[in-house]
Amino acid sequence: MRFSTAVLTGSSIVLAAALPTNTFKRADSCGQWDTVETGSYTVYNNLWGQSSATSGSQCFGVDGLSGDTLSWHTSWSWEGGEGQVKSYPNVVVSLDSKPLSEITSMQSSWSWSYDGSNIVADVAYDMFTSSTAGGSNEYEIMIWLAALGGAGPISSTYGADGSATPIATVALAGTNWTLYKGPNGDMTVFSFLADSEVTNFSGDLKEFIDYLASNQGLPSSQHLLSAGAGTEPFSGSDAVFTVSAYSLTIE
Ligand SMILES: *[C@@H]1O[C@H](CO)[C@@H](O)[C@H](O)[C@H]1NC(C)=O
Ligand SMILES: *[C@@H]1O[C@H](CO)[C@@H](O)[C@H](O)[C@H]1NC(C)=O
Repeated sequence: MRFSTAVLTGSSIVLAAALPTNTFKRADSCGQWDTVETGSYTVYNNLWGQSSATSGSQCFGVDGLSGDTLSWHTSWSWEGGEGQVKSYPNVVVSLDSKPLSEITSMQSSWSWSYDGSNIVADVAYDMFTSSTAGGSNEYEIMIWLAALGGAGPISSTYGADGSATPIATVALAGTNWTLYKGPNGDMTVFSFLADSEVTNFSGDLKEFIDYLASNQGLPSSQHLLSAGAGTEPFSGSDAVFTVSAYSLTIE
């Protein structure tokens, strides 16, 4: 645990004042797959790549829910395993798995900040789709609001300097994005990278899906299986990722 008791107590007091009817005051959770469910959200301490680290740990906590707007944080340090993602602390929204063509909107807002040393990480939405409602993942759609410290997306081809080769650029939700495509096991991954860091996103994620369906061969018959939003740490120390406001509403 890298939070001092003083910091935790302090933030709880602020939230208690701001959100009197629905507050959280509990210790952070640090175990693999620890979860906190609140409203339509589940926050996960997903440590899927921790074995590639030589040392490190990660904890998370939920700070409050007001209407559809969640606040939460994660703290981590990861060393070693250069270039490997260690974890994905993230929030998923509960959803009915249905074809992309039957989704009309995925309105989301996300305000976040990062503190810490030598942080290599992305801040990203991560969605998975399959040809059937209960099928295995076939497509992964990532929307990177930030690529910190040289973090890069999956690609089929890389330049001589090791950087991923983009397949397109596109303006969506008021931001310019560079798009990458590549394999992750059996999945095809599309990654939109914001041309400059977006710390206060507001937009409709369905625009990204519609763009992929119209221009990049994503079948709109694919079913949305899950939609997460969090950070993928590669390495760094004393990192604190704070989400002051997050919402995602799928209609
Ligand atoms: C997006 O790119 C276009 C073309 O380069 C530029 O004119 C525009 O200002 C950019 N928009 C943002 C939000 O950066
Ligand atoms: C984020 O954007 C929303 C609406 O676009 C605005 O109301 C809010 O004040 C912004 N928050 C921050 C921290 O800039």
